[in-house]
Amino acid sequence: MFSRKLVLGTIAAGAALSIFVTSQVRPVNAHGDVAPQAVDTAGLPQLGEEWLAENPWRDPSSEYWAIAVDIGASGYNQNCARCHGLEGISGGLAPDLRYLEADDYGDEWYLERYQNGYTQNGITKMPAFGELLGQEAAWAIRTYLETRPDDGALDDHANRLKEIRDKIKEMSDAGKSPAEFAADIDAFKAEMAEIAATVETGSGAPKADSVAARAVIMLDGSDGSLKNTAEVLTIGLSAAE
Ligand code: HEC
Repeated sequence: MFSRKLVLGTIAAGAALSIFVTSQVRPVNAHGDVAPQAVDTAGLPQLGEEWLAENPWRDPSSEYWAIAVDIGASGYNQNCARCHGLEGISGGLAPDLRYLEADDYGDEWYLERYQNGYTQNGITKMPAFGELLGQEAAWAIRTYLETRPDDGALDDHANRLKEIRDKIKEMSDAGKSPAEFAADIDAFKAEMAEIAATVETGSGAPKADSVAARAVIMLDGSDGSLKNTAEVLTIGLSAAE
């Protein structure tokens, strides 16, 4: 009994030591050692070998704008968020990318870092992504970042959006067809569209991809749209807090 305890104790001490050693060694790599995750860019046009100098999907009237935002969101969350922060909101480990200007200067600087990464005193602080992820992923991620709402952009409307969310949830819980609530749905869509139009981006890009804008698209009167819209609002509003 005694000796078994001793053995277990030794194993535990060994494990603790190796955790200690690993945690001492890891920061040297500063997250630079995690392999980039391929981004599925199906739905976006191929841009060719030559790198463009400017984001081709910046204009919100582009048919690819919304697709680029969606693909960019997942590409960003898989490859950049661990350093630059969830939703582009930096926790201080790396710069806040929501504020890189949506213009040629911003594009040039963005590409410089994306293609080459950043190394300081032989330590990779940011890995290079250019060759591995390609330029379609680059501009999709850029479009996503440019369309992040400015900090606090929804503060004035958060309470009203929560009220709308609660009413939509009530309708959903009633278990009837969304068609029964057509008039209310139209009114909420119009109100949320108005709110969405007030939201500004951090980058100066013309249109923000805010939770209000997402809810307007989601609330299309189809089966399940009430439940999904309530969820989108709940998640978006808690992220904004
Ligand atoms: C391992 C951590 C890490 C990852 C992962 C990472 N970055 Fe970075 N990034 C940094 C650091 C650190 C800097 C600051 C370097 C410097 O001083 O210029 C930086 C700087 C940048 C800059 C310049 C910002 C500015 O304001 O000067 C851009 C643009 C950028 N990163 C884009 C990205 C994109 C896009 C991704 C994902 C495809 C990404 N980064 C992934 C750590 C990271």
